[in-house]
This record gives sequence, structure tokens and C-alpha cells, in this order.
Amino acid sequence: MKPSIAAALGALAVGPYVHGQGFLANCTWQTANSYLGAYCNNDNWEVYSYDWTWFDTSNCLMNSGGQLTPSNNGDYWRTCKGCSIRATNIEFVINCTCLFSGTRLATSTYDLNKVIWNHDGYLGCFSHFGNRSERGPF
Ligand SMILES: *[C@@H]1O[C@H](CO)[C@@H](O)[C@H](O)[C@H]1NC(C)=O
Ligand SMILES: *[C@@H]1O[C@H](CO)[C@@H](O)[C@H](O)[C@H]1NC(C)=O
Ligand SMILES: *[C@@H]1O[C@H](CO)[C@@H](O)[C@H](O)[C@H]1NC(C)=O
Repeated sequence: MKPSIAAALGALAVGPYVHGQGFLANCTWQTANSYLGAYCNNDNWEVYSYDWTWFDTSNCLMNSGGQLTPSNNGDYWRTCKGCSIRATNIEFVINCTCLFSGTRLATSTYDLNKVIWNHDGYLGCFSHFGNRSERGPF
């Protein structure tokens, strides 16, 4: 195999859309409600800088019968309340109380690091990109 082809395949293998590359590998989060804000590194390693990016996690999860489930445009925030975050270096677990069957409530958790990525300094999930600026609020 020619080296150029091997390099191209290698680049594909580590592309930004590969699942399992959560944002925690690359970002330092500062605040979270339905919006997640973070300093993330971008692709410009020469100017190695951190950008502030913020993103509405409603794009990423749905309330499926009281359970938080990854889903494009899931809009869980409409029917889940009292959400809290428990974060480590490898997990970013959101814990909410979600309405189901009209009147019943269930507590549910999901590791947002499994669905939210950092692509060139933008937080996102599925095909959604958050916003980015050079300077953050902190
Ligand atoms: C989620 O939060 C509820 C209420 O605060 C708590 O009782 C429950 O143990 C939490 N679940 C997890 C998995 O942390
Ligand atoms: C880290 O960030 C860079 C720059 O955006 C990106 O190319 C790379 O895929 C990220 N790595 C992980 C493990 O998320
Ligand atoms: C993100 O940027 C777009 C385009 O500049 C803007 O319309 C939108 O209000 C911004 N979203 C947030 C949450 O700031």
C-alpha cells in the first residue's frame, strides 16, 4: 500500500465523527444547564488555543417513557426537570426527573460524553454544532 493511502485511511479512522470520542477528552466544561459551556481545543495546533463553545443539549437526548435516550432533536428539556450533572474525567452524567404516561415521574441518567463531541472547538451532537467564540465568560 502506498504511504499516502495508508495516511488517508489513518486520518479517516481518527476523524471527528467517530463515536466514542467524547468532548471530555478535549474540553474543560465550566457551566451546565440545558446549555453546556466549555473551553475546547480546536484543530489549529500551531496557535494551540482554547475556544469557548456553548451548545443546547436538548439537541441530543429525548425522554423515552421516562428514560433519557440519545436522539437527534430529542428535546428532553421540555419534559425532564431538576437535572443535575455528575462529572469525572471520563463521564458527564446528567440526572433528571422525567415525566411519562402523562402524570408519572422517573429519575433517569445518561452519560452525555457518549453523545456530545468536540469538532474543531465546537461542541455538538449528531449533525448539530454549537456556537464558538475566541473568548469565554471566565
Ligand atoms: C439521580 O438523582 C436522584 C434525585 O436527586 C437520586 O435519588 C438518584 O440516586 C440519582 N441517580 C444516580 C444514578 O445518580
Ligand atoms: C480533540 O480535538 C481535536 C481538535 O478539534 C480533534 O481533531 C480530535 O479529534 C479531538 N480528539 C478527541 C479524542 O476528541
Ligand atoms: C448561535 O449563533 C447563531 C448565529 O450567530 C445565533 O443566531 C444564535 O442565537 C446563537 N445561539 C446562542 C445560544 O447564543
